Amino acid sequence: MVRIMVVNGPNLGRLGHREPEIYGGDTLGDIEHAMRVRLPRHMELDFVQSDDEATLVGIMHRAVDEKTPVIINPAAFTHYSYALRDACAMVSGAGLALIEIHLSNPHAREEFRHNSVISGVATGVIAGFGSDSYLLALDQMITILERTPRGDNQ
Ligand code: DQA
Repeated sequence: MVRIMVVNGPNLGRLGHREPEIYGGDTLGDIEHAMRVRLPRHMELDFVQSDDEATLVGIMHRAVDEKTPVIINPAAFTHYSYALRDACAMVSGAGLALIEIHLSNPHAREEFRHNSVISGVATGVIAGFGSDSYLLALDQMITILERTPRGDNQ
């Protein structure tokens, strides 16, 4: 089985109620379900959310140890967590794809959201398409995994 980790940062557990005019009406459960429906049968998703920086860093360590590529919405940690950035660097440094995603387009919002400390170590970034950002990232991750020969860091 090919596994993909989907990692969600702080406050994303409140989606559906939290600023729906910005983030849309889908809950994180709705998003997880939509991703699972789209997932090819030979792939599995490890879908997690944490409000805690240390937990997210630990999840990245696990991704490295288990050679699992990552789709991550780092939420507010995007803008200031060097610890999470360093952990993400270990994932991409191990040759594993790491796709950064956002529901909103941070560049069209407050100035403090314009900088991402994660993007520099990401394989690529998808932002601004609401919950479709997750599905676009999944489609791209599937493309990457199907292109890369098995045993080559997967
Ligand atoms: C977000 C954008 C971040 O700026 C914000 O702190 C979030 C969500 C997004 O998905 O649009 O919590 O990552």
